[in-house]
Amino acid sequence: MANIDQYEKLRLIGNGAFASIWKVRHRELGYIRAIKESKELVTDEHDKAYQTFLKECAVLLRLGNGGHPNIVRIYEPRLIDNRATVEMDFIQGETLNDYLARVRFMPIDEVMRFVREIVGALAYCHVDIYKYLMSPETDELEPDPNDATRYLISPEKERELVKKYGVTHNDLHSNNIMRRDVDGSFVLLDFGLSVQDGQAVKSSARNDGALEYLAPEKWEPGKYAQGIGPWTDVYSLGILLYEVLAGRVPFPLDPMAMASEQARHELYTHHMQDTPPPIEPLRKAAFEATHPGEAWTKDYPRWLENIILRCLAKDPNDRYANAREVLDNINAHAERSHDLPTALLDDKIDDLRHEKRQLEQQLDEARADVQHYSERLATLNDERERLAVALDNERRTTPSTALRATVRTMATATTLMLVATTLVAVITWLCHTFAGARFNAPVLGCWVIAAWTAATITMTTLARQRQEQILAGQRKVNWPLLTLTTALVLAGIAALFIDPKPTGIFSLLDSEPLAYATLGIIAMLAAAALLLCFMNYRRFNGHRDIAI
Ligand SMILES: Nc1ncnc2c1ncn2[C@@H]1O[C@H](COP(=O)(O)OP(=O)(O)O)[C@@H](O)[C@H]1O
Ligand SMILES: [Mg+2]
Repeated sequence: MANIDQYEKLRLIGNGAFASIWKVRHRELGYIRAIKESKELVTDEHDKAYQTFLKECAVLLRLGNGGHPNIVRIYEPRLIDNRATVEMDFIQGETLNDYLARVRFMPIDEVMRFVREIVGALAYCHVDIYKYLMSPETDELEPDPNDATRYLISPEKERELVKKYGVTHNDLHSNNIMRRDVDGSFVLLDFGLSVQDGQAVKSSARNDGALEYLAPEKWEPGKYAQGIGPWTDVYSLGILLYEVLAGRVPFPLDPMAMASEQARHELYTHHMQDTPPPIEPLRKAAFEATHPGEAWTKDYPRWLENIILRCLAKDPNDRYANAREVLDNINAHAERSHDLPTALLDDKIDDLRHEKRQLEQQLDEARADVQHYSERLATLNDERERLAVALDNERRTTPSTALRATVRTMATATTLMLVATTLVAVITWLCHTFAGARFNAPVLGCWVIAAWTAATITMTTLARQRQEQILAGQRKVNWPLLTLTTALVLAGIAALFIDPKPTGIFSLLDSEPLAYATLGIIAMLAAAALLLCFMNYRRFNGHRDIAI
């Protein structure tokens, strides 16, 4: 590092709790760098704060061994003017946070680029870094007999090396990722909270990292058996991937409410329990807000969403163990479907297959129903046949209900006839005694038979009507017929009060032959009524539930 005086401070680019970051230019050579400078004054090189700063730098310096293009490169740390200072490559660009706030909607190709670069950088930190840090002596590596530059590493040995050298960033969020203007690539920064081999670096004054990206095991340490590890980064990575796709984090915290205890509690509940809201409507809204008048069609594959959701599992055991696993999964999918349109077509085919499976299931269910109902129908048919046979037997052995019903109708009609006869007799007697009226026998007989006929017709009609109503499930009285027969009876009764020397049509009744003729007609009417009764019986026959 050049002497600090050789640099001209151009601009303060970051101002955290622990350090300030300056954009600087070498006065003579003109190159630009970034310098991170502790805010706290450090007494000497043995100062604890300086030692932790060195640890952070050591992590980043060692990560530099592999020269990963998506991790910020730093140079030798120094103590200058009582401040811990380190020089870094200056990244000309903006933080992911600023970039997303500016563009709101990230095109899918760029999302995929972000996924590969940042997941790749993290896979390198979590796993691959061991290849650049392991030492043949201290790690007791077995040389490859065929190639002196290589070593034989068993899966157990690899696990051991990954555990020893793997770095957990522990503070992934959109302000610790920058997007380079020059080529649109993404760079991971700020390893101030990183953990290596269970040792926290913690040069940052913050303890946990940005709240919206905190994994459940950080919100509630001790809830899960695992402490902080690559799986914790995987959760924050899930939030970042969600964010680039949806345009916002799944559980946003209002910056104004940041300090409020209630807002923090809500955020805690979201991270501990809630499923992230679906990405699709958010991405659609982000597209529509930035592309007025254009229609959005789904542009990201389902496998990506599934990977993100698995990264966001509450229980660390349900997540990918590290970013290398995430990357392998992404690559496996990307290999299977070479480009996005193919992936989207694959999703559609999957959807259709799923729909087909559902339809087949429904069809099976419907078939089972058909089977069930045909069996039921067969049982019911058997039952009907059995009942028909039983009914036939019963009909043969017992007098039919229809017959009983008709007999009952006839009995009621006869009772009514008797009542009518008695009424006629009483009225005649009353007229004779009190009004001095005289009647000859045929006329009286006519009235009696007329009354009987009326009663019989009424009863038969009523009985028939009632039966029909019962069968049709409704009830209606044939009022015109009822009124007609009633009027007939009343007219007959009224005729009784006519002068003993009747005039008009009633004078005919004074002649005995005519009276007998009338009697004959009325007798025929009575016979017709009886016939009606019989037809009624025929009609009822076959219906057992007859009520009169
Ligand atoms: N190498 C760099 N080039 C350009 N900007 C940087 C660089 N390093 C950091 N920054 C800016 O400074 C901010 C804070 O830096 P960071 O390393 O994250 O420190 P802190 O611990 O304060 O968060 C970053 O969000 C970024 O905007
Ligand atoms: Mg930071």
